[in-house]
Amino acid sequence: DMGGHDTYMHKEISEQPDAVDRVLRGRIDDRFSTVHLGGLNLDAREARGVRRIKILGCGTSYHAGLIGAQLIEELARIPADAEPASEFRYRNPVVDPDTLYVAVSQSGETYDVLAAVQELKRKGARVLGVVNVVGSAIARETDGGVYVHAGPEVCVVSTKCFTNTVVSFALLALHLGRIRDLSVADGKRIIAGLRRLPEQISEILATEGDIEKLAAQYAQASSMMFIGRVRGYPVALEASLKLKEISYIHAEAYPASELKHGPLALIEPALPTVAIVPDDDLLEKNRAALEEIKARSGPILAVAHQEQEKADHTIVVPKNETELDAILMGIPLQLLAYHTALALGRDIDKPRNLAKSVTVE
Ligand code: F6R
Repeated sequence: DMGGHDTYMHKEISEQPDAVDRVLRGRIDDRFSTVHLGGLNLDAREARGVRRIKILGCGTSYHAGLIGAQLIEELARIPADAEPASEFRYRNPVVDPDTLYVAVSQSGETYDVLAAVQELKRKGARVLGVVNVVGSAIARETDGGVYVHAGPEVCVVSTKCFTNTVVSFALLALHLGRIRDLSVADGKRIIAGLRRLPEQISEILATEGDIEKLAAQYAQASSMMFIGRVRGYPVALEASLKLKEISYIHAEAYPASELKHGPLALIEPALPTVAIVPDDDLLEKNRAALEEIKARSGPILAVAHQEQEKADHTIVVPKNETELDAILMGIPLQLLAYHTALALGRDIDKPRNLAKSVTVE
């Protein structure tokens, strides 16, 4: 049942305020400015012993993991990184007893992720899951974890589950942070930010008409560039993946700082760039990248907290706490991919060559 929407993707994008509300519900502890994660199976003493966190997933779940790793480093000050599960599996990784492994999956059935979990378990590692489908294979084989509570996702490409997975990582990071060195004041600040998300997502969704008009222009492009820095880079990766999956327009994502090391050669009037430009300590650096692109007559669409003078168009999104901004900046780009694919007449819920869950190697 699409509940009045033309596609499941549109329905699922629209459900995000409720989905985020659901992942927060019952978990926030205002008294200690922290969150309770019932299924984690990691007591405070064990959590303090974690030296490193390694996040494994595929596709969109990997991108959510990249943001998750940044959240964990920022809020809990534990070194963390994310890697595609299949790469990890095939490179005979060093499995370290002080590292906490986190497997991320919407379906909980992705073979490469499951196989990585099984290999880690066999070597005695502790593995948590950040999973959407309750009782799925990855949920069952992990030692504990966080359910993402996005609800059923029918469209082949992931939208609401991506957002809820990132929010789940914010909860995990806050939980670990408050067991370690994150202050009560910072805990309160992040909790207040999390509580603002559903309303702010609704504000972004209300600008759909404007994004649809932009998409009509970008649907003419044969290729698009996505750039971001630090928190903005995984947002760029995910937006680029979404666009190519459903519109079949070629797209690349680069850290803005890498432009001058090669991809700048591609910039010309026929190659639009989507730039993630949050109001944070990297704002001036990001503006400099826009200037570089403009100097080569590249069209620019900025996703920012304020109008960008160098951009041809800016999608202005509401500001949250700096650590949480990435969650909001991806949402208009889901709509951009959606309306671009719609303008091109694509089969949005079932893109060619793709399956919802990849249970083979
Ligand atoms: C992207 C997409 C895929 C999945 C990937 C992992 O829109 O849907 O990239 O994210 O196949 O799937 P899960 O999260 O089910 O493990």
